[in-house]
Amino acid sequence: MSDTPRLPVLVTGGAGYIGSHTAVALYEAGFLPVLLDNLHNSSLQAVEGVKTLCEADVPFAQVDVCDREALSSVFEQHSSEDAPFAGILHFAAHKAVGESVAHPAMYASNNVGGLGTLLEVAESHGVRNVVFSSSCTVYGEPETVPVNEDAPFQHAESPYGWTKQASERVLADHAATHPAHRVALLRYFNPVGAHPSAAIGELPLGVPNNLVPFLTQAAAGIRGALTVFGGDYPTADGTCIRDYLHVMDLAEAHVSALQWCLAQDSEAHVVRAFNLGTGQGASVLEVIEAFERATGETVPHTMGDRRAGDVMAIWADPSRAEKELGWSAKRSLETSMADAWRWQQALKTR
Ligand code: UD1
Repeated sequence: MSDTPRLPVLVTGGAGYIGSHTAVALYEAGFLPVLLDNLHNSSLQAVEGVKTLCEADVPFAQVDVCDREALSSVFEQHSSEDAPFAGILHFAAHKAVGESVAHPAMYASNNVGGLGTLLEVAESHGVRNVVFSSSCTVYGEPETVPVNEDAPFQHAESPYGWTKQASERVLADHAATHPAHRVALLRYFNPVGAHPSAAIGELPLGVPNNLVPFLTQAAAGIRGALTVFGGDYPTADGTCIRDYLHVMDLAEAHVSALQWCLAQDSEAHVVRAFNLGTGQGASVLEVIEAFERATGETVPHTMGDRRAGDVMAIWADPSRAEKELGWSAKRSLETSMADAWRWQQALKTR
């Protein structure tokens, strides 16, 4: 690394699963991630893991994005008029589909309200680049797969999905009224795995909702058998299909998206959506098989009913990200599973 000072980048939700992995990738690429998190659904353990991996005292502030004053003080402390944040990577949000159905107002105020507050504070500090954590959920059940960015949004199945659609709209409208604003809307497919060092990974609180953390806990004997949600879908083996990508591939995509924002030289605003996936679909049973192949472990599982709200099959056409961001997913499903398992084992010994 040269002596050039690192450009500071604000990472909201920096103690979360994707935020913490992205912080490491940012540091490796020569930026200084400034982590902000309210620790509502995350822990300081992730911040410590980031510091260990970066071998640096990466700044962290326990702040809620909805707290305008506290947020402003983070901007004042870590950026200035001469050296504003090079960009904001905005991960901080609630993300559980079922919880959003039970608490829609909480999802609206935190996910959409929090974004509004962040944009206003960013505006008053001259920050123009935003990389946003969106989701393939905006597409609902797509008419054709693989799905590309021009596919229309479907009616949101859950308040969570609605907050992602609404946030994309808020960002696009905000940028349209502010010249030289650059916004990358990153539509994630299914992030899985962990940093290969097992210093950071996913830390679900309570019973995991998502497939891979449940699967690793089932294999570790912490949970009962994994229930496969539905074996009667019209897919090759009857189970749902998703596009699982390694969280470090996803982290690196954020660095590419930030660099894309920084490379735009026009004074006009630019808003662009990018699918982030591997381009390959895998069924639930194929994920279980990949895990067993990669680790030699057995996943106890039973076939259960369909889960309400699940789409049958979705995977990405990631060609726009490849062409315009120069990014593509490099790690295999087996690598993701091996890393998820290493992380699960590290958790047991902590
Ligand atoms: C969902 C959301 C996604 C969101 C993500 C984060 C939708 C369509 N997708 O992804 O936007 O970002 O959650 O939480 O709303 N499965 C089982 N058994 C389990 C758990 C899951 O069989 O115990 C199956 C599911 O039916 C699904 C697949 O595994 O087919 C993946 O499920 P999950 O990890 O929960 O992610 P999504 O529902 O795809």
